[in-house]
Amino acid sequence: MSTFAIPRSVEWRETHVTILNQQKLPSIIEYIDLHTLEDVYEAIATLKVRGAPAIGITAAYGLALAALRYDTESLDEFRRRLKRDRDYLASARPTAVNLFWALDRLVTAAADALSVNEAKTTLVHEAIRIQVEDEDVCRRIGEHALSLFRPGERVMTICNAGSIATARYGTALAPFYLAKEKGIELSVYALETRPVLQGARLTAWELMQAGVDVTLITDNMAAQAIKAKGIGAIIVGADRIAQNGDTANKIGTFGLALLAKSFDIPFYVAAPLSTIDLTTKTGADIPIEERHPDEVTHIAGVRIAPEGVNVYNPAFDVTPNELITAIITEKGIIRGNYNATLPSLFTKEEQH
Ligand code: MRU
Repeated sequence: MSTFAIPRSVEWRETHVTILNQQKLPSIIEYIDLHTLEDVYEAIATLKVRGAPAIGITAAYGLALAALRYDTESLDEFRRRLKRDRDYLASARPTAVNLFWALDRLVTAAADALSVNEAKTTLVHEAIRIQVEDEDVCRRIGEHALSLFRPGERVMTICNAGSIATARYGTALAPFYLAKEKGIELSVYALETRPVLQGARLTAWELMQAGVDVTLITDNMAAQAIKAKGIGAIIVGADRIAQNGDTANKIGTFGLALLAKSFDIPFYVAAPLSTIDLTTKTGADIPIEERHPDEVTHIAGVRIAPEGVNVYNPAFDVTPNELITAIITEKGIIRGNYNATLPSLFTKEEQH
């Protein structure tokens, strides 16, 4: 089977945006059409589309879609509505910086337009460009990440930082797709990732579609699996990387980084430059989304905890920079001294 039997998570269709409904995977492969700004907001907020780059791409299309329908010839009025709709979509989720990055990239792209028509065309082109670029960026992340693994290595991951979380290939999962293309054997140990099971439902499904060797474990099996199965490295994605390298990613990532230190194995973060937020100085400044208690008290709609129990449900945690062996971006692999190395990525050419 070709590596890319995996469906794309987002498609621009001129009059609407089509997304793969990630809430229903893996049992149902359903595509849904988003026609309005509210549809796009709801799809992001309810995790029908999720994963930092995919959220950014979808929001960019959502903003372009809304702007195409502004019935005004006044550029001032156009910009006022664009700002209002940008702010609305930006409030769908707080942690993944790619959402704000993509929306702001559109607003900036349209800033110099000389007419409303030109602004509309620019917004659509910019949104498409974000998606096209992300595929290339993810492939390059995968090439760099692959250089860190030995053939036959067993690598652990959490959540889903795969093809459906991006334009294609994913970030943390990209090296496994590239390894498959090149005939290099790597095995993945995927944590199921409670509460909403992105690891079990999405990562296991994606990797199996592509014929990548994947073993599913529950989150509390991580230490035992590292010890018993000789895991050689851990690789995760990111929702936001602060200037000092502190990294927000799916809840449970911080615990894995502590395990990596304890077992003396490398802990890698794979992410595009669009996930690095130099305006956020440290992890303490990253807003952590807290989601509905039902995600913890229920699994697939079935209650598993007593009615009325207190619940704490943070969707992300922050891994401190000192636990991160390297950050892998499309511009290459950087290790340590992140306060200096992360800003320099934005001006330098790709490392080979
Ligand atoms: O809540 P989610 O499913 O959007 O969280 C996703 C993650 O934490 C991913 O690891 C991250 O966005 C990177 S996706 C390439």
